Amino acid sequence: MFNKKMVTDFDVKGKKVLVRVDFNVPLKDGKVADDTRIKAALPTINYLLENGAAVILCSHLGRPKGEPDPQFSLKPVAEYLGGLISAPVKFAEDSIGPVADAAAAELKPGEVLVLENTRFHAGEKKNDPEMAKALASLAELYVDDAFGSSHRAHASTAGVADYLPAAAGFLLEKEIQYLGNTIADPKRPFVAILGGAKVSDKIGVIENLLDKADSILIGGGMANTFFKAQGYDMGDSLVEEDALETAKMLLAKAGKKLVLPVDVVIADDFSAEANSKIIDLGNVPAGWRILDIGPKTVAAFDAIISKAGTVVWNGPMGVFEFDKFAKGTFAIADALAKSNAISIVGGGDSASAIQKSGLADKITHISTGGGASLEMLEGKELPGLAALDDK
Ligand code: 3PG
Repeated sequence: MFNKKMVTDFDVKGKKVLVRVDFNVPLKDGKVADDTRIKAALPTINYLLENGAAVILCSHLGRPKGEPDPQFSLKPVAEYLGGLISAPVKFAEDSIGPVADAAAAELKPGEVLVLENTRFHAGEKKNDPEMAKALASLAELYVDDAFGSSHRAHASTAGVADYLPAAAGFLLEKEIQYLGNTIADPKRPFVAILGGAKVSDKIGVIENLLDKADSILIGGGMANTFFKAQGYDMGDSLVEEDALETAKMLLAKAGKKLVLPVDVVIADDFSAEANSKIIDLGNVPAGWRILDIGPKTVAAFDAIISKAGTVVWNGPMGVFEFDKFAKGTFAIADALAKSNAISIVGGGDSASAIQKSGLADKITHISTGGGASLEMLEGKELPGLAALDDK
């Protein structure tokens, strides 16, 4: 159950609506390089336009230092949005203060105004009430559709909700539905696949899912730390020495639930051209490092995934940026795509792996949040969600 007020719970006709979106998208040569997050916000934007609202969009982009920095301007994103919707899209060179006030005052129903990067003000990340008030003064209703930023308690994601009626947009609702509700009450067997470099990034997720999941499949660099904790020599593999005790504790606590690779691809260099070979799990020779899961592991994981009712995946199985070590990650993408399970992919690297594999349309839900989806999987409360009005 989604227990927050929705944008559909308000009469928006003729109203100015401030929408927090997550337009923190990659730019290349000053142009939008990946529009996933922009497109994901369109249902809310279009709903508001069709229902007669004047739509004011705010977001951060990148990590500027609390002052204007042209490389992080949202102007290219505003221009890009103009090509996606039929409404006129205007741009204000500031998110608060006289420039934003004037642009918002002039805005008419059916029009969109994109404000400049909220992080050009130090008050944004400090969740400064003055910044929150200044943002709120631009509009009559606040809608949060920035799932990717909802783990941040900032002025535009949380503080502003103190000064306006505050509702969720469709993207935020959908993300919570999948990453929260589906996982809280999963169709079983419920399988979690966790990868990525570091165990330390995923401890909270493993601990939270241990009670809920039927199996937790581990791949990627983080598996090495578990292997080392089991007493294997890892050669030159990435190992988090200071997470060894935690890995031991998790292994003991999880028992058979935690499924580790049985074979791995090792390489004599960390590079796309390295020599490689497949070995059964055991000691890794000096000078070699694990860069992917092996084919027996893929088959074992595939067998578990094919019987699952719900699968959640976060983190690649190997160094998929190098073609030679991408097989494990893409095989898992395949396994997910062909299973009948409800499939949920956390944002960040696993989302880009799915996009790269061309199988995105076979996945039930691909999250637009990186850090936010991890915090959801850890079972944490998201400040951006908590700030909204209850139903
Ligand atoms: C993200 O890309 O994860 C969000 O936009 C949050 O960005 P941040 O980590 O800079 O707060």
